[in-house]
Amino acid sequence: MRPTVLGIETSCDETSVAVVADGKIASNVIFSQTDHSIYGGVVPEIASRNHTRKLLPVLREALRDAGVRLEDIEGVAVTSGPGLVGCLLVGLSAAKGLAWSQGLPLVGVHHMEGHLFSGFLEHEDLRPPFVALVASGGHTDLIEVVDLGHYRYLARTSDDAAGEAFDKVAKLLGLLAPGEPTMGGPRISELARSGDPSAFDYPRGPLDEFTFSFSGLKTAVLYHLQKLSAEEQTRLKPDVAASFEAAVVDPLVEKTVQASRRIGVKRVLLAGGVAANKRLREDMEVACGDAGLSLHVPSPILCTDNAAMIAAAGSYRLERGETDGLELNADPRRPLPGIDTGAGA
Ligand code: KG4
Ligand code: ZN
Repeated sequence: MRPTVLGIETSCDETSVAVVADGKIASNVIFSQTDHSIYGGVVPEIASRNHTRKLLPVLREALRDAGVRLEDIEGVAVTSGPGLVGCLLVGLSAAKGLAWSQGLPLVGVHHMEGHLFSGFLEHEDLRPPFVALVASGGHTDLIEVVDLGHYRYLARTSDDAAGEAFDKVAKLLGLLAPGEPTMGGPRISELARSGDPSAFDYPRGPLDEFTFSFSGLKTAVLYHLQKLSAEEQTRLKPDVAASFEAAVVDPLVEKTVQASRRIGVKRVLLAGGVAANKRLREDMEVACGDAGLSLHVPSPILCTDNAAMIAAAGSYRLERGETDGLELNADPRRPLPGIDTGAGA
């Protein structure tokens, strides 16, 4: 029997608390902030204040949903980085308070290791070694999971992250409602359904290089839109969205398959907020099928930020006896633990 772990995630604009018991989700409550108003991005001060306001109600709901009392919890896992420092500190303070008052072990989880562990919550057959594409608003990392806690970077982005490109292009297309700076992916994906993905041939970067780059694509869309009349901009918006989406998805799929072949790994995990994208999920499924690779993709709610993945990664660390003291601090640029910077990095 694995421990009952309470997870807390407050690294950006989702306030989430979850209970994972014996490796399975008992509850996973997520509050998404939608009041970043006119600013056009996540405003750290607003996000921190929202976390402070929402964390206790979300915590109570997570315990209630799981049908457990605080006394049943055996460990507390909290995202300690990377992320927005003020936001991380809200989660950390709550986690430390809980751990101290209940006499529980505390563990600081790396946010991206959390995304990696989202893969184990529903797929018990997922076992290392595998290749993981973790694409979010801040990262686009192709990782070789040599073993649990032992990772190698196969490719990373040289500029924008894939999710960031979705958010920036959604803004260019006027798709973001006020206060929803990180909803670019879902908005573009929705509009792209009625568009033609081959209408415009946006740049995909060199497909044979093991690095991602999305800022040139965003600029190409910007210049293209500037050349269109107001009438064309409206009429062609679904085609622009679909063509842009294809130009993000193609290199993600292509490089994941190429890298898996190159290192001879047979299993692939797709994770992170961008993994909620329908086109990416479908294209990756086809490409992996063709290449004889088995693909694991968490449900969309476990791809975007949530505390169940933090509790899952925390559970693994706690079982290894890797606990943190109350001096644990937020580290906005925390490196991935267990990353091997040698061959393949
Ligand atoms: O992992 P995540 O929830 O937060 C970070 O760790 O950054 O990822 C958020 C990112 C946002 O940029 C958002 O636009 C993108 O994931 N995203 C999507 C979709 N859902 C969320 N991108 C493409 N298609 C989606 N359906
Ligand atoms: Zn994330």
